[in-house]
Amino acid sequence: MHELITGRWSARGYDPTATISTADLTEILQAGRWAATWGKVQPVRFIVGVRGDVTFTAMTELLTRGNKPWAPDAAALIMVCTTDNPDDAKAHDYGAVDLGLAVAQMSIQAQALGINTHPMAGFDTAGARARFALPEDSRAMVILAVGRLSDDPSTLSPEVRERDSAPRKRLPLNEIAFAETWGQAFAAQP
Ligand SMILES: Cc1cc2nc3c(=O)[nH]c(=O)nc-3n(C[C@H](O)[C@H](O)[C@H](O)COP(=O)(O)O)c2cc1C
Repeated sequence: MHELITGRWSARGYDPTATISTADLTEILQAGRWAATWGKVQPVRFIVGVRGDVTFTAMTELLTRGNKPWAPDAAALIMVCTTDNPDDAKAHDYGAVDLGLAVAQMSIQAQALGINTHPMAGFDTAGARARFALPEDSRAMVILAVGRLSDDPSTLSPEVRERDSAPRKRLPLNEIAFAETWGQAFAAQP
């Protein structure tokens, strides 16, 4: 696999003093902008906060209890929104697919810039709608934390340190990649 993929992970131990340049942030947003999109609809929208500004602060206030202790140390928070039209099932479903693709591309672009990303669904989506005046046909699904890892782990809380050092795991490929029929493992290279 490409090292940008193997190297990507969702960290929590960000350096609360580190910053991200507007140029880097713009590249990350461009990577999201250029993701594949169903029917060329392009439903994905970004709300961008840089640590210290009002947008960033408003987003930190929306975070759930699990995300509040670490995500405010990110250098930027990007709220990623997509279409929400319950009367159009395809637009609804593929709007979410488009958003996932955009977030994936943004994460890899950030990785290429030496920047970590951590997607979060743990925030008050109704509060986000109200605070950022989302139109009715849009929904906020992810806040992407964009940060630089702390180079002094001793400054991190024991909980963050423990979670960041836990081994990352995935289901084995033979349990998730099938051929011929569901459940029959694709003969991947051992
Ligand atoms: C849609 C989505 C929502 C997530 N929400 C949260 C969240 O609210 N808080 C959090 O700490 N991690 C969240 N994560 C990160 C996952 O926990 C993480 O991706 C998973 O543990 C795998 O770890 P890795 O990204 O390092 O491979 C979310 C990931 C995705 C894709």
